[in-house]
Amino acid sequence: MQVVSFRTLAGVGVIFLVGVSLCFIVLPEAFRVFQLSLQKSAIMKDQDVSDIITPLDEPQPLNKTASSCSPKSEEQAILQEWDSSHFLQGPPTKQFRENLRDDTFYITAWSNSGFTNQFMGYVNMIYLGMISDRVPIIPPFGPHHISYDSGSLRFSHVFNLTRARRALKRPLLEWHELKEEDSPTSLSEPLPEDREPLGCWSARHEGNPTPIRVKSVIDHLKLDTSYTRVPSNTRHFPDEKTTDFLVFNQLVPYVFPRHPWRPPSSFPLMEASPLGQRLPPDEQLSCFDFLYYVTSSRELFEWQYSWSPAWRLVATHLRFTDELVDQAQSYLRRAFQVTDGTPPFIAVHMRRGDFGQQCRDGRTSKECFVPLENYRKAVESMQQELREKKGMDVKDVVLMSDEQDGKFWDETKKLGWARLDHHKEQTVEKYGEWYPLLLDNIAQSLAAGFVGTGDSTYSLLSARRVEDWNDGPTFMVQRFLGARSLYYEDDGEP
Ligand SMILES: *[C@@H]1O[C@H](CO)[C@@H](O)[C@H](O)[C@H]1NC(C)=O
Ligand SMILES: *[C@@H]1O[C@H](CO)[C@@H](O)[C@H](O)[C@H]1NC(C)=O
Repeated sequence: MQVVSFRTLAGVGVIFLVGVSLCFIVLPEAFRVFQLSLQKSAIMKDQDVSDIITPLDEPQPLNKTASSCSPKSEEQAILQEWDSSHFLQGPPTKQFRENLRDDTFYITAWSNSGFTNQFMGYVNMIYLGMISDRVPIIPPFGPHHISYDSGSLRFSHVFNLTRARRALKRPLLEWHELKEEDSPTSLSEPLPEDREPLGCWSARHEGNPTPIRVKSVIDHLKLDTSYTRVPSNTRHFPDEKTTDFLVFNQLVPYVFPRHPWRPPSSFPLMEASPLGQRLPPDEQLSCFDFLYYVTSSRELFEWQYSWSPAWRLVATHLRFTDELVDQAQSYLRRAFQVTDGTPPFIAVHMRRGDFGQQCRDGRTSKECFVPLENYRKAVESMQQELREKKGMDVKDVVLMSDEQDGKFWDETKKLGWARLDHHKEQTVEKYGEWYPLLLDNIAQSLAAGFVGTGDSTYSLLSARRVEDWNDGPTFMVQRFLGARSLYYEDDGEP
């Protein structure tokens, strides 16, 4: 990775200099002289001309840059520098292994939870790749809290990877760029002979005898995975055998390319693959069954804290694709009953559903939910804050909730709050089960201010987006469970 990025950087540098020279030496005559002198020095050094003009591995897409002098071409060069093609042998192959480059090390991870927590796990994987010099390969999202036949969903369908690569100045590969797939959504079980063996790490603690096997993703990628448990000193509490959390920097020595702390094969196998292979964790492609529970500091559930490196260095750069943003905008316009331009608005996310069953003091689910009044007060003070700090008069409020009870929605309507009504919009019928969640997520990220529900990772991510992307105020309405709640819950959403 170090080598590759240095080379590509040098490559862009050279091409850029050539480009700049060409801007000055515009005459074709001068160009010929330039080429001739290159050839001459090539002959002098007894090298092939092409070796000198293209001394790097991947100059192909860059010659556009050299021939045009507009400022835009520099930008294009940066984009292309991180293009996936530089980090693979070529187009997708039948077996992923054929497509890995000998000089590059990779990382990947699966995830078996709801959409938000899958996202967090994949981002943690990308961050671990950054600090261990490995190129991340992002799998699709699996349909884990929606019907299985919703199929898998490409990460790049939701997040703009072109933009993220440029912001991160790093490659971000997707599995479909590496390995042929039946279709972007296929979850059909491959024939045993079509499965490709791979040895992975399991992040599960000693209290769990087996790794997490993520059928959706593993079938989609046609893999057959065996697992080895990560060493216990990668844990946040190495002496406690039943805590989930791992520490990013403690994992690095075990996955670092070429010279890890110990060879992965020196650790005992946790579980053979379904087809019986017993591979140790792969050295070229580090993979993990899931990476949701990872922190860099003393705190668990670190994503909620200002310093979270996974948020600051990765997730905040993962913007939604233009197409989905446009779609969310038009849903919002219909919700606010306006025709052109979405007005500035406050988004409220109320997580109810299973949050009603989590009180530890015997309250019924209705009593366990945070009262609507608490959200109303939060919205009111946010309106005031927006007026005072930003001179914005924000009247429009949109509410997203998993509540099914019509009476609840009648009450919120009385407050004048709008709603993205996926039932009325027939979102599922038109676009499938992934969409209500995606559109809600994106709509929330467009808000001038955000009011969410404590302990919901779904709320947490929207809050962080509104803060970073819109410089907007955010507030989490806290739950009272009868005892301090310790855990962020899997949001149960797709
Ligand atoms: C770049 O140059 C090479 C050889 O000089 C040529 O084969 C290729 O088509 C060019 N690519 C573009 C995008 O112009
Ligand atoms: C990604 O972002 C860039 C701007 O950085 C934009 O030009 C491009 O259209 C976006 N692509 C998608 C798929 O949203």
